[in-house]
Amino acid sequence: MYEGLKHAHSGLRWVVLVLLILAVAGAYRSWKGGAAGGKMPLYAMIATHVQLLLGLWLYFISSYVKFTEGFMKDPLLRFYSVEHLTLMLLAILTITIGYSRAKRKPTEEGRGRTTFLYYLIGLLLILLAIPWPFRGLGAGWF
Ligand code: HEM
Repeated sequence: MYEGLKHAHSGLRWVVLVLLILAVAGAYRSWKGGAAGGKMPLYAMIATHVQLLLGLWLYFISSYVKFTEGFMKDPLLRFYSVEHLTLMLLAILTITIGYSRAKRKPTEEGRGRTTFLYYLIGLLLILLAIPWPFRGLGAGWF
């Protein structure tokens, strides 16, 4: 159960990243050229919400999430218990707010600009909060 969930959460990062990059690029084109935005921002937001559900579930069963004495001094426990959660929640919130604000803009350019800015910030936060293998947090590429 735990292993399967962890692999799903780990693999889904790539889906999230690809969809977010496509959404940001498409939003930029809409902003600059007025081209129709398409559904990519919606798909990217849904992917982040699925990731949030898997992440929340993992949060309750992972042995890396602990609030025992001195957990803030342990880089691994601090990362998963506090940093990963906080930054990812902030990123998903930013993307969700961006999606709903963009919807209310009257022009294609306005929708593109709003989506571009909010989704880019969300994407950067996610890149920052992923436990990439080179960060020494014991996680892999997939
Ligand atoms: C777009 C958002 C997110 C992405 C891309 C993401 C990505 C990842 C990745 C790549 C790992 C490493 C998995 C491995 O060890 O192979 C991980 C682990 C973890 N994530 Fe996330 N995550 C996201 C959001 C969240 C959220 C919102 C939560 C909590 C509510 C969360 C909770 C966890 C936990 C607890 C682990 C550690 C699992 C373990 O090894 O025991 N994640 N995440």
